[in-house]
Amino acid sequence: MNWIDIGALEDIPLRGARRIKTALGCVAVFRTGADEIFAASDSCPHRGGPLSEGIVHGQSVTCPLHNWVFDLNTGQAQGEDGRLDIFPVRIERGRVLIEGARLTARSAA
Ligand code: FES
Repeated sequence: MNWIDIGALEDIPLRGARRIKTALGCVAVFRTGADEIFAASDSCPHRGGPLSEGIVHGQSVTCPLHNWVFDLNTGQAQGEDGRLDIFPVRIERGRVLIEGARLTARSAA
């Protein structure tokens, strides 16, 4: 595993997200109300809405454009035919780490 430090947990707003730019496009890193962290592609599969500007509730995010709701564990849209790419993330001593090899693999696809 190739974990990349992308910043402090405190830099991500509670029930919000921070967007990180990668060579492949933007990835949204979400922080839930329970201080859990999830990472997913920032672009909604419906019409490209910026999910990092969506509303985080429980372990889900609602797209700001047309309100599709995505499970942040699986990336699956509830009741819709769409799915987000999900990336492994973890918290270590207050820092947020994302698995870099997966991002690289995605670029090669
Ligand atoms: S662009 Fe996300 S629900 Fe339409």
